[in-house]
Amino acid sequence: MQTSPKPLPVIGASGCEIHLADGSRLLDGTASWWSMCHGYQHPDIIKAIQDQAAQLSHIMFAGLAHQPAYDLATRLCAMAPKGITRAFFSDSGSTAVEVALKMALQYWRNKGKPRKGKFICFNHAYHGDTFGAMSVSTRNGMHSAFDSLTSKQFQLDIPSDEYSFAEFEETIASISGNVAGLIIEPLVQGAGGMRFHSADVLAEIRRVCREHDILFIADEIMTGFYRTGNVFACNEAAITPDIMCVGKALTGGHIGLAATLATESVFESFLSDELGHALMHGPTFMANPIACAAANAALNLCTGFDYLARVEAIESQLLSALKPCEQMCGVADVRVKGAIGVVQLNATQADMFNMREACIKEGVWLRPYNDIIYIMPPLVITDEELTKLTNATCKIVANWSAAQGE
Ligand SMILES: Cc1ncc(COP(=O)(O)O)c(C=O)c1O
Repeated sequence: MQTSPKPLPVIGASGCEIHLADGSRLLDGTASWWSMCHGYQHPDIIKAIQDQAAQLSHIMFAGLAHQPAYDLATRLCAMAPKGITRAFFSDSGSTAVEVALKMALQYWRNKGKPRKGKFICFNHAYHGDTFGAMSVSTRNGMHSAFDSLTSKQFQLDIPSDEYSFAEFEETIASISGNVAGLIIEPLVQGAGGMRFHSADVLAEIRRVCREHDILFIADEIMTGFYRTGNVFACNEAAITPDIMCVGKALTGGHIGLAATLATESVFESFLSDELGHALMHGPTFMANPIACAAANAALNLCTGFDYLARVEAIESQLLSALKPCEQMCGVADVRVKGAIGVVQLNATQADMFNMREACIKEGVWLRPYNDIIYIMPPLVITDEELTKLTNATCKIVANWSAAQGE
């Protein structure tokens, strides 16, 4: 609050552009924190929101229900990895993660195994800002002020080779009696630094969970809806999680909504005559009809356009356009996965914040953080627009790099 520059006043947005109050426009390379996949103010989504608002803007979702939620649940389950059959709606990604954690904990309690009360999570993970989500996010990260107040979980490195896998599996075997679930951002750890792991690693982690009676929770809030090159990142590893969280691009980024999806076996563990076995979670705006209508319209867009091909094209353009950065002094790594392009620098936090200002001067909206400058545009971005983002990134990195030698 004391040191950040004043936020830029925004009066509108369209396609991939943000319209500022001074009449200028910024080309968005962040898709509003990775959510705005079909572009801003998409007419189909706006119309769905308007029509639904005119019909039924909200109704509590307990004892009462509505068609937009039923439609969305059915469609999401059909789209999710095979075996996912149930959906629980909430209003943000963090809440969807809280619900996932509660589901996993109570699954074991309902099955008479209350000792299984901890989670395995990973270094560099980010799962949201609420307390449960913080407890499974990386320690010493952005939430470090709360480290002593959050539940202690088993935080491990994502294994990468045969040796680390053997150690990982040994650890899992020794703690599994106390573990309810493992939570992972499949293929890409986002806010923790855009770190990638392979589909083989993901599949192995899933196997280990199955063999040691640990629920596998995939947090697809960032990766879902084509971002990594598949509808869901789990698809690349041909795995089905027990529980899966989606949010962000679910409504095309137009309005807040998230879902915690589950398999029939997880669902069935809550079927009981005892109230204590029920999943006690009921956010006021659970399954808000406007948000569900927006999501249904967004899913129509997913089926009406070849996003797989589009993301493949974005990936190859990012790969070639960011390649020159590899040679620049101070660049630690350049990596691309689907519609995510990352340049990692040996830079200070202050350098990164200065780059934010440089991005605005170039007419692009990118938010370098930690030690990375990354591009994660709306998936509908044109080749020309993407070129503007990659040119700006290369120029900013080159300027910073040249200054390192001085
Ligand atoms: C992987 C992941 N999980 C959870 C969240 C939290 O979502 P929300 O910001 O909607 O609460 C985020 C947000 O960036 C995320 O990237």
